[in-house]
Amino acid sequence: MVLWIGTSWKMTKTQTEAIAFASRLRIGAAAGGWPRVQPFVVPPATAISVVRDALGPDSPFVVGAQNAHWEDVGAWTGEVSVPQVADAGATLVEIGHSERREHFGETDRTVNWKVRAVLRHGLTALVCVGEPAEVRAAGGAREHVLSQVAAALDGVPGGSRVLLAYEPVWAIGEKGREPAIDEIAEVTQALDAEYGGVMTALLYGGSVSTANARDLLHTPGVTGLFVGRSAWDVNGYLHLLRIAADVAQEAGEVAAATVPR
Ligand code: 13P
Repeated sequence: MVLWIGTSWKMTKTQTEAIAFASRLRIGAAAGGWPRVQPFVVPPATAISVVRDALGPDSPFVVGAQNAHWEDVGAWTGEVSVPQVADAGATLVEIGHSERREHFGETDRTVNWKVRAVLRHGLTALVCVGEPAEVRAAGGAREHVLSQVAAALDGVPGGSRVLLAYEPVWAIGEKGREPAIDEIAEVTQALDAEYGGVMTALLYGGSVSTANARDLLHTPGVTGLFVGRSAWDVNGYLHLLRIAADVAQEAGEVAAATVPR
């Protein structure tokens, strides 16, 4: 089992700050890294290339972009395309974060177009889904999320490089509420049952911290974490990587102990 542990910096960090962060990651990787963990960082577009450079050659870190347009080139002022973020050094593109759905008009339809563009260029798509508080209160969380994923993956062949991130809107950001494991397990189990064989990993995101990461990684179906605030300080992110490496090692030992001889 490999655990994907990543952070989106959202609209934070200058290039200087990004380089300082990435330099610490490079030192951590050189000191032995995090076995059975796939780490990734998603800087703002302005810092993708400097982060890639600061991580150095052969880095275990995947570098991502927070968004990309569905068209490759053209008159789309303010947008960046998949070939452009790939040119800057990204090999993963985050699509459909709830902040983009809420503030920038992303819909299930544009999310699908973007996912197809990312895959067409051979990058990994990280598709974010999650229900708002009122949908959860009305008992519709599972249905809402399954329908978002079905729309996002419409026409996408099984076996494509797709990560799903389940991020309930009510759990994200400063006003977010930390979820109970039961609340998210209901959705992650359903996603695992439906897409377990076809997606690369299923991440949980929203108020992840060093205090709850271990429990969250034991939630049924969850094989990674997607972290905002708790990982914006490099020490917080390094701590989360350490926790994940410990969880992955324990899981490996349990698996080895139960293999029939
Ligand atoms: P927080 O960890 O700050 O709640 O943000 C999570 C998130 O939006 C990751 O995409």
